[in-house]
Amino acid sequence: MDAVDPLRRGDRAGRADRTLGSRQLAAMLPDPAGARPRPAFRHLAREIGTLILDGRIALHVRLPAERELAAALNTSRATVTAVYDLLRESGYAYSRQGSGTWTAMPEGRTPRRLARVLEAPDAAIDLARAAPGLPEHVLVDALVRIAPHLAGHADTPGYHPYGLPDLRAAIAERFTRRGLATVPEQILVTSGAQHALTLTMGLLCGPGDRVMVENPSYPNALEAVRRARLRPVSVPVTDTGWDIEVVESTLGQVVPQLAYLIPDFHNPTGCLMPGAERERVLRAAERTGTWLVVDETLTDLALDVPAPPPFASHARPGGSGQVVTIGSMSKTHWAGLRIGWLRAPAQVVTELAGQRLANDMGGSVVDQLLALELLARAEELLPPRLEQLRAQRAALGEALTEHMPRWTWRVPPGGLSLWVDLGEPIASPLAEQARECGVRIEGGGHFGAYPGILEQRMRIPYTASPEALREAVQRMATALAGGLPLPPAARRPRWIA
Ligand SMILES: Cc1ncc(COP(=O)(O)O)c(C=O)c1O
Repeated sequence: MDAVDPLRRGDRAGRADRTLGSRQLAAMLPDPAGARPRPAFRHLAREIGTLILDGRIALHVRLPAERELAAALNTSRATVTAVYDLLRESGYAYSRQGSGTWTAMPEGRTPRRLARVLEAPDAAIDLARAAPGLPEHVLVDALVRIAPHLAGHADTPGYHPYGLPDLRAAIAERFTRRGLATVPEQILVTSGAQHALTLTMGLLCGPGDRVMVENPSYPNALEAVRRARLRPVSVPVTDTGWDIEVVESTLGQVVPQLAYLIPDFHNPTGCLMPGAERERVLRAAERTGTWLVVDETLTDLALDVPAPPPFASHARPGGSGQVVTIGSMSKTHWAGLRIGWLRAPAQVVTELAGQRLANDMGGSVVDQLLALELLARAEELLPPRLEQLRAQRAALGEALTEHMPRWTWRVPPGGLSLWVDLGEPIASPLAEQARECGVRIEGGGHFGAYPGILEQRMRIPYTASPEALREAVQRMATALAGGLPLPPAARRPRWIA
């Protein structure tokens, strides 16, 4: 009997284009002829289950028709039927009569992305997240300083869907100081940059809309695009940055509703988009009426160059106001605050605040007061943080040169990580093996706009201490010396690379 996903019963909207192509899936699977252990169908089903748990195959996408997958894998249809039966039995798939087989998450299993976030702290060195901690004395000091202000809020209801007025004013003033005149009405305080992005996409896009993203990009932004059922269209970011002609032609040909960019010390490549290129992106987006969502979360982490002015300051006078700028305290101060913001035309901010009411009513007053306090002291707090990051970046570079002589990278002018070229497509198995050796890290594929790519890359953040970074690189060298299983992608033709 067909298994039916109880969460999705009756909900078929927006799924027409959520089909995984047979060649795309085949490129992620091992060759059935060589699959071990036998029988091949069990092995293939387990591999597909792993890809679903890994998030490399999204949930609630339609798997290819059995005949097509059999042809792409060069195997029998009976094998693929058995694979799909097993996936349904084990909860990784469900079927609808006449509408194919869809991916699912079995009850009681946690997607690895989530499992990693939920994982209790252990002895592993965490290089999976590029987010520095806040020195304890700075936090304690800030808590003491905000106490009198907090008392002033205690007899108010404490709901501020737009954000605390003083914090909005401080953020607006920061934009103005950086060269983009801004009033508090153009600012919405959010629970982090990620929240700002999901709110913005929720207001400006509807299911099925096309969204231009960078490839690679910040994985949680890509995930938000997928979850909102938008259709990502990617433009490459390489070690040398953006190909603006490709950006212009993609905007012109696809006419996306929205484009999400990280022009300042791009995550994960570290690239900084030059001013002239920003102007060209702005003009191209103006021509197509595309909203630009510019993520400036990493702006202040300018290690070797002056911090860039806001992207929107490159708009010509009277030019399109269709830019939403996103910012955050997470990288310059502390992600634990969960404070971010967006800058947009005041009318858009009003609509987003309305949306936000239905979402979480507003952020915590305590966190916003802390953010206000830390922002006020940014000029004093930021330079030592940047100095520390430079030292950590140097320590990571030295350790890699010593232990991984075949790996290459470009020293980024800012940001929090090196985008390392491993010279061969081993990132996923290396990340798995590194976990065994006490290092949590993500392979390049985690940052890809679509599955099965960037296996030759690894993002290595330099947010840990020099000692921890050196130890982590040594442990990775041990993992590598132990030998790695070849990733399926390396064994099969790269149909979708
Ligand atoms: C480019 C980018 N945007 C947004 C975020 C998330 O920021 P927040 O913690 O403010 O939600 C990150 C965190 O890594 C990031 O790198």
